[in-house]
Amino acid sequence: MDTASPLPRRTRVGIVGAGPAGLLLARLLHGRGIDCVVLESRDRSYAEQRQRAGILEQSAVDALRASGAGARLDREGIAHDGIELRFDGRSHRVDFPSLTGGSRVWVYAQTEVVKDLIALQLAEGPPLLFEAEAVSVSGADTDRPVIGYRHGGAERSLECDYVVGCDGFHGVTRRSVPEGVLRSYSRTYPYSWLGILADAPPVYDELIYAHSPRGFALASMRSPSVSRLYLQVPNGEDPAAWSDDRIWDELDVRLASAGSRKLERGPITAKSVLPMRSQVTEPMSHGRVFLAGDAAHIVPPTGAKGLNLAAADVVVLAGAFAHLERTGSSELLDAYSETCLRRVWRAEHFSYFMTTTLHTDPAQSAFETRLQLAQLHRIADSPHAAAEFAENYTGHFPGWA
Ligand code: APR
Ligand code: PHB
Repeated sequence: MDTASPLPRRTRVGIVGAGPAGLLLARLLHGRGIDCVVLESRDRSYAEQRQRAGILEQSAVDALRASGAGARLDREGIAHDGIELRFDGRSHRVDFPSLTGGSRVWVYAQTEVVKDLIALQLAEGPPLLFEAEAVSVSGADTDRPVIGYRHGGAERSLECDYVVGCDGFHGVTRRSVPEGVLRSYSRTYPYSWLGILADAPPVYDELIYAHSPRGFALASMRSPSVSRLYLQVPNGEDPAAWSDDRIWDELDVRLASAGSRKLERGPITAKSVLPMRSQVTEPMSHGRVFLAGDAAHIVPPTGAKGLNLAAADVVVLAGAFAHLERTGSSELLDAYSETCLRRVWRAEHFSYFMTTTLHTDPAQSAFETRLQLAQLHRIADSPHAAAEFAENYTGHFPGWA
């Protein structure tokens, strides 16, 4: 939104947060002629630079294309038909299309998704205000909820017919729902991820998930010349304790399997420690206030579900708003939470399963390690177990919203 435009004082749908959820929702509503405004507390460069996930399910790709934001994704995204599991001296590839009737996933970084959505919204609308921090959401139980926000050094308000909190786990919207209405279900994990970006070509053309006695490792990618890699580390680990050589050496050990090649090394350009937690807020709406994406649920990154759940929520919500505009009925809005929670809990379970099966909890017994390996061998040996894995990884749930 250019500085010359007057700030909006009211809108049909007020959206808090310009992450993937808020930006994709705004595109989908705008495409249906539904008036909305996005308020983002940080500046554009922050929103575009946050290193996050890199795997898109087909439904998320379809939504981005439908929103008009699929052009660069179609040029630069990389379709993947499988992943490799490494464990107990084995290496097993899970093939998605043959196990799911054709599903696959796409490698395209969340940073790029956000850049594409922001560029489109600044060019075509709806209004997107950066450095506009929502400080309150009031009136959820009325037909005129109001977002109070700070922008340009002044306290301002945006009157809405509906408010959607896309403001992440620490956002203000969820906290604006009256006490006692929401229930929270959560779990934390006894380990974290050390995530790195490296100017080094991925040595594998698909993702490798490795279970090892020294801990989990994941080899992913961002492009033919940039690798994205992760190591399980203890909670609270200082990234500075990990030199480039130490990182590459540890990745080589954990990713090794019979006949595997050592990683091609290169300068590490980003390094950070990510904690792991699961959390779900129920219900995902109250009155005229809705929660979508990380504002409603958090998953450990192992299953690559965070971005895809955010996209799934807003596809449902945009369809419900369109139904309201078309028919005057709020039935789909009323069903939003129940509709989304089925997919949310499926993704929560799969993310929990991937995390607890592939990571080595420092306190786990040898018996529990054998249980992990038995499960991984089962996926490698049984097409039925592999199909269950592939359907969850690709989000292939025919008939589900
Ligand atoms: N006012 C305005 N904006 C806010 C406020 C606020 N009070 N609080 C938070 N925000 C903004 C944040 O700055 C961020 O840009 O809301 C946005 C939330 O974006 P995400 O955290 O990316 O959440 P979401 O859009 O749901 O996307 C989920 O992002 O964090 C990853 O792993 C997560 O892949 C998942 C995806
Ligand atoms: C990533 O590329 O960042 C990525 C890929 C797969 C995951 C998690 C993260 O399961």
